[in-house]
Amino acid sequence: MEQHAGDAPATRHAVAVDLRDDWAAALSAAGFSADRPTAWLAEGILYSLDEPAADRLLATVTRLSAPGSTLAFDHFEVGPSLRTAASAVDPTFTGLWQPGPADPGAWLERHGWRPDVRELAEVAARFGRAVHPAYASRPGAEGRSWLATAALPGTAG
Ligand SMILES: C[S@@+](CC[C@H](N)C(=O)[O-])C[C@H]1O[C@@H](n2cnc3c(N)ncnc32)[C@H](O)[C@@H]1O
Repeated sequence: MEQHAGDAPATRHAVAVDLRDDWAAALSAAGFSADRPTAWLAEGILYSLDEPAADRLLATVTRLSAPGSTLAFDHFEVGPSLRTAASAVDPTFTGLWQPGPADPGAWLERHGWRPDVRELAEVAARFGRAVHPAYASRPGAEGRSWLATAALPGTAG
């Protein structure tokens, strides 16, 4: 196996919280500093939250974000074809799904972020990849799937 020398570029700290609660204090106690820009990644979480809980999550992320911070996440609407496909794998999946934010772009803007929200199929096509038909929604139709990035305006540092 190839060996690499040098220092580890980062240290990972796991913080066990329920993101529907007030988790900011636990993050700070684990060493998080809100003074410097943060790159947030919220993968696979927004469809576990109802709309008010998703809103509280983003309000906390925003409060802890210095100007120049960035945020990335995935999200999807639970349309009929996705519900059917997931139910075929395990029906308990669909029972856990929550709606999350209905319009990710407007949601980000409301909290002061500059969003770049793309349909999942569009991003996959850019890399020559197909998506599962349940995620290949037509823009404007029910059952959309998104990949989003956003920046908090301001000068980093
Ligand atoms: C699709 S997975 C995403 C995994 C994640 N991106 C990672 O790298 O660990 C969804 C995760 O969200 C967690 N989850 C669901 N609801 C949560 C909540 N209210 N607070 C914290 N985590 C939650 C689940 O336990 C699960 O581990």
